[in-house]
Amino acid sequence: MRIRSMFDTDCERILNVASDWWGSSYSSDLFSKWYIHHFGDTCLAAEEDGEMVGFIMGFLSQSQPDEAYIRIVMVHPDWRGRGVGRALYKGFFEVAESLGRKIVRCVTAPTKKESIAFHTRLGFSIEQQEQELDGVPVYMNYDGRGGNRVVFKKLL
Ligand SMILES: CC(C)(COP(=O)(O)OP(=O)(O)OC[C@H]1O[C@@H](n2cnc3c(N)ncnc32)[C@H](O)[C@@H]1OP(=O)(O)O)[C@@H](O)C(=O)NCCC(=O)NCCS
Repeated sequence: MRIRSMFDTDCERILNVASDWWGSSYSSDLFSKWYIHHFGDTCLAAEEDGEMVGFIMGFLSQSQPDEAYIRIVMVHPDWRGRGVGRALYKGFFEVAESLGRKIVRCVTAPTKKESIAFHTRLGFSIEQQEQELDGVPVYMNYDGRGGNRVVFKKLL
């Protein structure tokens, strides 16, 4: 398996698979040529025999100079449980560290138990919050539009 930086031309491939890989309709402003063009160092694709089997998209924070942020990761359903997600995160950590970052952050929905398990296995800690759901600290109404989030942090 090969981990590589994304190119503008990957945009259409991601758009075509995102909803299937997510498991329900998924659209994001990140799935855009401008995002890949300007944040290409921290957007990585995993390929096997030329086929994309996973991707990760994130950025280096401008306002928090020690930090990098992972916005989304998806692995082809047939390729899950085989280390693709771990390899994508490792690639992201290496890029972030080489560019001077010491902390990686990301969030997930409290209903996404697999994502919580995955991030915990990869060494992320869960930030303490005022409330817990099912024993997991949750930032309620994270954006002010009703969605709750588990907030992860990892020191590189
Ligand atoms: C979450 C996701 C990216 C994991 O990718 P993956 O390639 O299957 O993960 P890996 O095989 O690299 O697993 C890495 C570790 O996480 C653990 N893990 C992965 N999925 C898990 C699950 N569903 N339940 C429990 N542990 C899990 C693995 O056991 C492994 O631990 P180990 O290496 O210490 O043995 C993938 O399931 C996915 O694309 N899900 C849909 C999109 C999504 O939920 N993205 C995350 C939210 S943004």
